Amino acid sequence: MTREQTAVLTGGAREIAPANGKLGVMLVGLGAVSTTFIAGVENVRRGRALPIGSLSQMATIRLGKRTEKRAPKIKEFIPLADLNDLVFAAWDPIPDDAYTAAVKAGVLDRHEHLEPIKGFLQAIKPMPAAFDQYYVKRLQGTNVKHAKNKRELAEQLREDMRAFKKREGLDRLVVVWCASTEVFMTAGPAHQSLAAFERAMEQNDQSIAPSMLYAYAALMENIPFANGAPNLTVDLPVMVQLADDRHVPIGGKDFKTGQTMMKSVLAPAFKARMLGLSGWYSTNILGNRDGEVLDDPESFKTKEESKLGLLEHILQPDLYPELYGKVYHKVRINYYPPRGDNKEGWDNIDIFGWLGYPMQIKVDFLCRDSILAAPIVLDLALFFDLAARAGLSGIQEWLSFYFKSPQFAQGLYAEHDLFIQQTKLKNTLRWLMGEEQITHLGIEYYEYAEK
Ligand SMILES: NC(=O)c1ccc[n+]([C@@H]2O[C@H](COP(=O)([O-])OP(=O)(O)OC[C@H]3O[C@@H](n4cnc5c(N)ncnc54)[C@H](O)[C@@H]3O)[C@@H](O)[C@H]2O)c1
Repeated sequence: MTREQTAVLTGGAREIAPANGKLGVMLVGLGAVSTTFIAGVENVRRGRALPIGSLSQMATIRLGKRTEKRAPKIKEFIPLADLNDLVFAAWDPIPDDAYTAAVKAGVLDRHEHLEPIKGFLQAIKPMPAAFDQYYVKRLQGTNVKHAKNKRELAEQLREDMRAFKKREGLDRLVVVWCASTEVFMTAGPAHQSLAAFERAMEQNDQSIAPSMLYAYAALMENIPFANGAPNLTVDLPVMVQLADDRHVPIGGKDFKTGQTMMKSVLAPAFKARMLGLSGWYSTNILGNRDGEVLDDPESFKTKEESKLGLLEHILQPDLYPELYGKVYHKVRINYYPPRGDNKEGWDNIDIFGWLGYPMQIKVDFLCRDSILAAPIVLDLALFFDLAARAGLSGIQEWLSFYFKSPQFAQGLYAEHDLFIQQTKLKNTLRWLMGEEQITHLGIEYYEYAEK
């Protein structure tokens, strides 16, 4: 057998439209995450900082055999929009421009990263939001749209998208939900078909949350939509169908940043070594506006579902009942204003090993929520735009790397392990470019090597 025969063969490269012209990044919400993202990109563009945490900007991708030593940067390997071609817009019920919102969020150092780009940030003023306090109890908004029903609100959002594109002379758009977490909801009859959804919008049905209006508007405008919060939004039969029918990429839910990212690294390690787990207690203190919104039990419930789901999927208690059949998993978020955006996440993990002897692991992650989330927003904007140019549509499971509760096709289950997700992401990039998949088999270096 030759080396070539051991390789997993791929088809040719996928046709990908070039990333010519400008890409409009439309953010729902102009709070801590959005402003940290926008200000970060502008600082990077001006050569004042590095895009740390962004795979699209900093990671390399290995191609071919290890002996070939080919490892270009992802952004040099596949045609992504250039940072200089990004143009930003946002909606928010709070009328603060991006500079004021960033100062209030208190994430970035004012003198080092905000003052030098003050004019740029001040020029980004939020468009009136499709907002309803019923869905985010702790917020009051004045910068809001008015209409006789939800369908008209959605039409106004569509008009915002078209107007932004025209005004700025943009080639393409993407929408990323970076707005507050809405109250807990489950899919109902209004979410099963386009006709039912449109009727429900006209009747101002309570099962249509604002986030769904943005998603509907984007899909109707053929714009990719990524959801950074745990709301259902595009995780509904109607949206999946609409995205498939209109050939638009969608994905979510909930950016995978601090505590959950650590969970999706540690839990697979326990399972890989067949170590048992009896309990995992996670608590967080944070004091930003997100923390305040999540202090409302209804919004917290949405977040809790998103944070709880992954352990069960990673550990597969049905396959390993002796190891993971009785895990007590608890997640708490406590609003504690003195901490601002600098969250602290504690994990107490009770594991057990050989013959059932117990052990404990403690994790204390003093992280910065929006510093972890901003590069995710950047990568999602660039990769969703890539997906659209490559003709990929519907759920983009290859981007589950970025989400706490990734969307997946019917009949599957979510893949939560960070390193499987990373392999999936990089193999999708290789596949798009007609490069060999990397299986890590590597037997050809030994069995078939020329001695
Ligand atoms: N930072 C992280 O690590 C992280 C991780 C995962 C998910 N998230 C989620 O990302 C979202 C943003 O987080 P943040 O820290 O920037 O919160 P934030 O409160 O600072 O910003 C959210 C903004 O959304 C606005 N908003 C609320 N409803 C809106 C609507 N209907 N239309 C337009 N704007 C609306 C709010 O007014 C607010 O300014 C939250 O849902 C959060 O749970 C954040």
